[in-house]
Amino acid sequence: MVDRNGWGRDHPVLTGSPRSPPSSFVEQANVSEPGIYEEFETEWPDCWERAAELLSWDEEYDTVLEDGNAPFYEWFASGRLNASYNCLDRHLEAGRKNHAAIRWEGKQGERRTYTYRDLYVEVNEFAAALRDLGVEEDDVVTIYLPMIPELPIAMLACARIGAPHSVVFAGLSADALVARMDAADSEYLLTCDGYYRRGDAFNQKSKVDNAQLKLEQDVQTVVVDRLGEDLPHVLGDEEYDYHDLREEFSGETVEPVSRDAEDMLFLMYTSGTTGEPKGVVHSTGGYLAHVAWTSYAVLDVKPEDTYWCAADIGWITGHSYIVYGPLALGTTTMMYEGTPDYPDRDRLWEIVDRNAVDVFYTAPTAIRAFMKWGEEFPAEHDLSSLRLLGSVGEPISPRPWNWYYEHIGNEECPVVDTWWQTETGAVTISTLPAIDDMKPGAAGPGLPGIDVRVVDGAGESVDPGDTGYLTITRPWPGIARTLYDGDDRFRAEYWERFSDPAADEWHYFSGDAARIDEDGYVTVLGRVDDVINVSGRRLSTMEIESAITDVAGVAEAAVVGRSSETNGTDVYAYVSTEGGYDDETAVREAIVDNIEAAIGPIARPEAVVFTPELPKTRSGKIMRRLLEDVANGEELGDTSALRNPEIVGEIQAEIDDE
Ligand code: WT7
Repeated sequence: MVDRNGWGRDHPVLTGSPRSPPSSFVEQANVSEPGIYEEFETEWPDCWERAAELLSWDEEYDTVLEDGNAPFYEWFASGRLNASYNCLDRHLEAGRKNHAAIRWEGKQGERRTYTYRDLYVEVNEFAAALRDLGVEEDDVVTIYLPMIPELPIAMLACARIGAPHSVVFAGLSADALVARMDAADSEYLLTCDGYYRRGDAFNQKSKVDNAQLKLEQDVQTVVVDRLGEDLPHVLGDEEYDYHDLREEFSGETVEPVSRDAEDMLFLMYTSGTTGEPKGVVHSTGGYLAHVAWTSYAVLDVKPEDTYWCAADIGWITGHSYIVYGPLALGTTTMMYEGTPDYPDRDRLWEIVDRNAVDVFYTAPTAIRAFMKWGEEFPAEHDLSSLRLLGSVGEPISPRPWNWYYEHIGNEECPVVDTWWQTETGAVTISTLPAIDDMKPGAAGPGLPGIDVRVVDGAGESVDPGDTGYLTITRPWPGIARTLYDGDDRFRAEYWERFSDPAADEWHYFSGDAARIDEDGYVTVLGRVDDVINVSGRRLSTMEIESAITDVAGVAEAAVVGRSSETNGTDVYAYVSTEGGYDDETAVREAIVDNIEAAIGPIARPEAVVFTPELPKTRSGKIMRRLLEDVANGEELGDTSALRNPEIVGEIQAEIDDE
């Protein structure tokens, strides 16, 4: 699986000149003792108690780490806790009931604030409703909602009753929803009638109706009425209106179920190296401790802050850093439903200004867009409330990094470039903002306790400056416990490549290529597997290929990533047809439609290039690496190992014609 695409080429990898943390920041930071690295080393794994101490436990754990059954680690074994209690009840008990928990900004300019008490009430009511529908502990509840408050409310309601949630990004297709519900045997679904897209009502319920037809299991569906009169809808059998349910269970409370630290808090599907999405399983205790700790130590979140992670809760970033991390710490978390350029390109800065946001966390793809739009948009607003900036999801090269630092942070806010993955649960590589110098273009060293190694194919650490595979030795609390599809796949995907089970030596393989410098700072270069990162969203090239080859008349397809200034990477598809197709336009349209139906508009290809054949090795393997070079207009290496070297020139001519 490794090396199909060669080393990542997502971004230029020069690092800019280092910058020191601004002293105004250091003075007030949650974590500012440089000795923390050393402490975590000497105390490992007990150092992670610092994270566990940020939570309230129903029962204390016996051991910090159980590693007897590696790579299936257990953290805080025999400890018991409830995530919704940690995010709600304990803040009420601490007398903070009227503190704002969520500030929501809707697409139509609506605003709603939920205090911790408001959130507690609604979560309890919905938890009671879920119970009444028959949801029991460990039943998987699927949530298919856009960025409306009912989404985190439902997550916390599930957590309250010990039912793992599986949130499916609202922009994914009906087929993608079906695949995820099927794989998890999920019989409960929360969705909405629709949502607004650039002012127009978009029907989500019709996607759900399509999905229902394809699902074998009986599903009970709860529908949030988001659009009211703008999109009337009719409820069928086993479909319930969210607001009716709330009224029915008005004022009810539900005891938080005490969960074992190792019990599953949620499932999150992500793209893997095959066409089948992987159901990443996260635990209750270790996950929550890790997200709370990194919100505290890396994002410097304080209870009195207004904190904004401008991501979508449909992906892991939103789970960890819009919902669980900030709410566990009792801060005010912002939630924005819209896009950065609607109604205008200053939308985010207007929100920062009006809400006096302290900490802002976004993705490089957004930062590159801000940079392109121009500094006049942030300049129109007072951004002086900002104290810290974060970046996540893709490599950020020095130019957008510096732009962010100057034009958003006014050179007064540290920027943390946080590397992590759906599987790591929470941040694993980043500078600590009050301690470490920042190097634009490099994420930073492993966090205290995280042993990051960049290794060659044989698993030996490479020299500083050389490229290798990004691995992590030793587990950490937020690490995925397994894949819902099975332990074997978990072992195969992450542990087989560099571990030596016979010697009980375990190294987690991230799927990324990276370089590491003399100071241990990691520059991530991109994926080495069949995953591409389009605007910070993880897509499987094989999943896209299979959507293409499903189209009648298509013989073969190869999908690669092409570097893009705005999106990081674009989807680039090469297709050969079965012949007799002179109407390529029709096939091209069918291909695009099928990709949107199978995955969603986020996987739409930037280009579909038709070719009589795909370049292959003598053993018949498609040379995707070469196709990637062609797409990126790179110098081609030796093509003599190909069975059909002449095809490369034809493909290049085809692309030049376009
Ligand atoms: C992949 C994981 C982590 C939440 C969002 C993405 C890339 C992530 C960085 C960063 C360079 C990054 C990696 C990783 N990535 N953060 N700061 N610098 N690359 O989660 O969808 O699981 O994707 O995103 O390639 O493997 P995900």
